[in-house]
Amino acid sequence: MTNELHREVARRRTFAIISHPDAGKTTLTEKLLLYGGAIHLAGSVKAKRARRHATSDWMELEKERGISVTSSVLQFSYRDHSVNLLDTPGHQDFSEDTYRTLAAADAAVMLIDAAKGVEPQTKKLFKVCRLRGIPIFTFVNKLDRYGREPLELMNELEHVLGIRSYPMNWPIGMGPDFRGVYDRQARVVHVFSTEGSHGESEVSERSVAIDSDEIKTVLTETELAKLHEEIELLDIGGDEFTREKSDAGQLTPMFFGSAMTNFGVRPFLDAFLDLAPAPTSRLTTQGPREPTHPKFAGFVFKIQANMDPAHRDRIAFMRVVSGRYVKGMSAFHSRLGKDVRLAKPSQFMAAERTSIEDAWPGDVIGLFDPGLYRIGDTLAEGTGVEFEGVPRFSPEFFAVVRSRDPLRRKQMEKGLEQLSEEGTVQIFQQLQMGMKDPIVGVVGALQFEVLQYRLEHEYGAKIALDRLPFSHARWVVGANFDPKAFDWEGNRQTVQDRDGLPLVLFRDDWALQHAEDKHPELKFVSEAPQLRQATPLASGG
Ligand code: G4P
Repeated sequence: MTNELHREVARRRTFAIISHPDAGKTTLTEKLLLYGGAIHLAGSVKAKRARRHATSDWMELEKERGISVTSSVLQFSYRDHSVNLLDTPGHQDFSEDTYRTLAAADAAVMLIDAAKGVEPQTKKLFKVCRLRGIPIFTFVNKLDRYGREPLELMNELEHVLGIRSYPMNWPIGMGPDFRGVYDRQARVVHVFSTEGSHGESEVSERSVAIDSDEIKTVLTETELAKLHEEIELLDIGGDEFTREKSDAGQLTPMFFGSAMTNFGVRPFLDAFLDLAPAPTSRLTTQGPREPTHPKFAGFVFKIQANMDPAHRDRIAFMRVVSGRYVKGMSAFHSRLGKDVRLAKPSQFMAAERTSIEDAWPGDVIGLFDPGLYRIGDTLAEGTGVEFEGVPRFSPEFFAVVRSRDPLRRKQMEKGLEQLSEEGTVQIFQQLQMGMKDPIVGVVGALQFEVLQYRLEHEYGAKIALDRLPFSHARWVVGANFDPKAFDWEGNRQTVQDRDGLPLVLFRDDWALQHAEDKHPELKFVSEAPQLRQATPLASGG
């Protein structure tokens, strides 16, 4: 078992692709899957295009709008590796879910459209990866079209994101003049050809050594001279590549290609699998838990309710951190303080995938959830293990929720409770007398629509949302905070979260700054403090 465990850990890679919508994530994912005959492991796995025609009617909103609202996990094998790709929603407006998926990843691939460079959503997701200190690999896409100069893109990564890059390969031309990429380590040019490239199979791959005579049949003299010049510039002026810097997320290995024509995807995948880390240890309240620890342990990072509206079901997505998961096993649920049987995934899942008998560190399992799990829960063989919580992110859009049918208020509350456990929204209670309607906060404004839609279709509760003028939520840390005296009409309002922790909603940067200046004794933090460090308000406020 120990040898088997070591082997299974060593061959696993678990990562997520971060990008702005339209950079080509769906396309790149499809191409990656070409190389590895995908096995559906957990959740909805259909590519965006396929999903438009999906017969399953869960997440109707998603279908109607042709967008991907939820994230899923897919597993494929390639070479001797078992790869877990955690999908993150691709739409402009995204939720906390997107952020939390990154908590389950060991590395990220940052996909950039060569013409657009670093875009807003990439920036937000990058920040989360940075916080976690995971390695980030960059794939610059759409070289078959005109885009920015590669050196300019490297500059942008440094100035906008604050990360230095190391081009593993270098593009030769772009758009109609795109000739291919030069592999700096192997010193060969992978020649671009569009022949047969739009089909389902991979394109013919031709590589020519840069020092060979044959190179003259591929590149013109001018092209070759320019390539030599640029490579020299990189060799002399660029960073040196080290595994340490890449592992720490301080230097991003950079690749160029074109996902649509399937060019540069295989070399990228090969290098990625060599350089990306195997499953890493995770912090518990008692110190790090190594993946090769013989006892099973994992944490829940995402909950998805009502995947099949015909059956009231919830799936908890658990990332295995150590040891081996065996189908049907029991584990200690640290928050509940009792053993639970890790029940097999629901029917819906079973139809989508080959049933799993076991899983190893890095893998993600969808567990049937009869209401037992919350995001951040630890499940482990034996007691005494508790992973550090999955962070909750500060919402940026707020609204008061009112039930449009007083007789269905209970359903609305149940729905809100479940959707907040799932992470679709965060729920806050107002503190003033008589203000009973809850406030919801979301990370992306689309989540309001999702909330309204799902409450109506899944819980039969029609709601009205009154948008509030706030844009920041900050948990308050510090003694002598008096929530009753803190409100300031229109500029700030005190509320409390599910755990009774106080937060202040601020209208804008100015209002926040003003409070910070006037109240140096208080700290306004954008991530929920761990419960043990904060003081809940007396219940009811
Ligand atoms: P996303 O998931 O990141 O949102 O992007 P997606 O893969 O759906 O790609 C967005 C658009 O960019 C698609 O075009 C896709 O074909 C195109 N694209 C992706 N990779 C490349 C590439 O390497 N080169 C070029 N030239 N285009 C690329 P679309 O017209 O919106 O959709 P479709 O009609 O092709 O499906």
